[in-house]
Amino acid sequence: MTSIKEVAIINSNTVEARALSYGFERALCGPEIGSKTLSVYWRTVLPGQQFQLQAGENYHLVYVIEDPTNGALLYRDEAHDAQAGAGVLLAPGESVEFQASPQSNIDLLHMIVSKPPAEVEGGLPGGPGYYFDRQALRVLKDASGGRLRRFCAESSVRLMDGTRLTPTNAIQAGEMHYVEGGSSPYHSHAGTSANPRGADHCYITFNGRALVEVEDSFREIEVGTLVYLPPGAPHRLSALDGPLDYFEVQAWRSFKTNILSEEPLGLRWYYEPESADADPIEWNQS
Ligand SMILES: [Fe+2]
Repeated sequence: MTSIKEVAIINSNTVEARALSYGFERALCGPEIGSKTLSVYWRTVLPGQQFQLQAGENYHLVYVIEDPTNGALLYRDEAHDAQAGAGVLLAPGESVEFQASPQSNIDLLHMIVSKPPAEVEGGLPGGPGYYFDRQALRVLKDASGGRLRRFCAESSVRLMDGTRLTPTNAIQAGEMHYVEGGSSPYHSHAGTSANPRGADHCYITFNGRALVEVEDSFREIEVGTLVYLPPGAPHRLSALDGPLDYFEVQAWRSFKTNILSEEPLGLRWYYEPESADADPIEWNQS
């Protein structure tokens, strides 16, 4: 049994912001709340400043939460707009730079994941990393139509040209949108023989209020809250009083999802079709 007391609920608006050369860092998830493979930071790059990141031995996913005036993202000698929903997956040894425009901050969600063992990679090469944005990523919709998601990192998701989105099982992460009344099934994620402990798992909300359910306990969460679920904890997230936008992370991506409630329509996911008469293509979640 997992109690909601073991679930860390961190409001980013009240976390202490550490001043750094480029702006501010707010630590949201790491070993102090029980996470072993995943750390999460909210970084604010102030106008005219640069945030430079070297991946070192770890994987990093950096996602632009907000950048009203499109600063720049420099990766592999290419400059991209640092627009909301864009970002990079860095494999070990890679680097990236974010440059805020003179007019506004860039707000970043920065996830750091330790390198998984070969059994978790299961033959995947582990790299190289890549740049992504909302135009390039595919939308998945559940069969009920109540939930839409766009993965930034997911090793089984295919791009429109059939290529694999992500070359590693280090991390599964992406945007999720619930329509008003939208909810996940009540579920848990078990470990695997390659990853017996299971995955570190968290949500962070960007728009709308949400309800978290764990073992008959409920907690309402405000916009900007990170929820860390210990491996194996059963849980459900529901939109409260309107639609909900949040970001969801699992690291490492080696786990087995067990659905504990009866919502047959909500269990299947489909790629958004290329045209109205195209056959639906299912994405099989692990
Ligand atoms: Fe989950």
